[in-house]
Amino acid sequence: MKTLSLPDQKEHQEGEGDCSGLKVPFHRAAVGEEEARAACEVIRSGWLTMGPKTFQFEAEFAKYVGARHAIAVSSGTAALHLSLEAAGIQPGDEVLVPTTTFTATAEAVTYLGARPVLVDIDPATMNIDPQDAARRISPRTKAILPVHFGGQPCDLEGIGKLAEAHGLRVIEDAAHALPSEYRGRRIGQISEFTCFSFYATKTLTTGEGGMITTGNPEAAERMRLMRLHGIERDAWKRYRGNGSWSYEVREAGFKYNLTDLQSAIGLVQLSRCDALQRARERIAERYLEAFSGCEELAIPSIQSDRGSSWHLYVLRLRLNRLSTTRDEFIEALQRRGVACSVHFIPLHLQPYYRRAYGYQRGDFPRSEREFLSCLSLPIYPSLTETEINHVIRAVLDTAAESRKTQVVAVRGGHRD
Ligand SMILES: Cc1ncc(COP(=O)(O)O)c(C=O)c1O
Repeated sequence: MKTLSLPDQKEHQEGEGDCSGLKVPFHRAAVGEEEARAACEVIRSGWLTMGPKTFQFEAEFAKYVGARHAIAVSSGTAALHLSLEAAGIQPGDEVLVPTTTFTATAEAVTYLGARPVLVDIDPATMNIDPQDAARRISPRTKAILPVHFGGQPCDLEGIGKLAEAHGLRVIEDAAHALPSEYRGRRIGQISEFTCFSFYATKTLTTGEGGMITTGNPEAAERMRLMRLHGIERDAWKRYRGNGSWSYEVREAGFKYNLTDLQSAIGLVQLSRCDALQRARERIAERYLEAFSGCEELAIPSIQSDRGSSWHLYVLRLRLNRLSTTRDEFIEALQRRGVACSVHFIPLHLQPYYRRAYGYQRGDFPRSEREFLSCLSLPIYPSLTETEINHVIRAVLDTAAESRKTQVVAVRGGHRD
């Protein structure tokens, strides 16, 4: 039998001499032989879809984040959809969503015929600004969907107060926030609903997948029902030796279940979650140390009462000190072999949100300003010392090369 070969993550070791020509990808998934073995075990078991591995994954995930209930689903987007549905969001309702996010956050609101109402961000954290959210509340507003951008938790106290004052449901989009902490409490145990994503680039991956955590037992029951066609009993129970062939369709549900194949990978990833976070945090510390003295760069600041998963390392350029745009800066890094990304193009600048809701350029000035200056650097556990040093060198060299030269005004006439 052919053995599975996984990418060699130790390709570039420290001490390697010449790094010119080195290519640092934006992301490499932190999966290895253990995940491969777990997936093979499921294949050999003969039970591929949702079953014992998924239920074990849910139980261990709930314990890890400190939640009462965890419901495994096929994506972070499915998690958002099921949470909004369980929260009773109806056609015509409004849900507050930051404009700096991935389209899935707002798109899930539209699945229920509700309207995503975009909100500007706090430039310090790039998270939703509760004060701007307050200004956009109407009698139709039913929920708020804060996104923990890059892994740094939102101002959950401010959001909680706003929600209480206006009777809003809180659904956290924690696609980036595993594991993250707010005032010593892990994300996943604080608000009524928390939605995680296990997409390929996320801090815990099952290829595709997601999880909802909640402390609300009725909502948990509803989401378990709706994730599998609204059928009251899942296939696992139905086809077990002593199970019955009979089932009841209670609602028009969805096909959103997570498979045992994915859950087996998820269980291994969960057991490594703390170690993987520490590895990303160490890289963030190296970047912080290297870039904090560079006047052209603004480093990410983590508030003292929060802990970040460091899913993203978002650098901001001080464009007034540079002769290049952000796009040119990224191209220069690319030429030096460093792949970057940008998180996110604000939703109000996207054709769909402009067409459907009339948003325009200029509507959310802070979000637009940060978008024009931000770029995300590679940050993942398999980055080697050589690669980290290469990224640092490339960023500092690019900043130095595009530094604005000071024009000294010469007054009073002639100079030889
Ligand atoms: C902020 C945010 N929310 C939601 C999602 C959707 O997650 P998924 O791709 O698992 O559906 C993503 C995915 O990239 C995301 O970045």
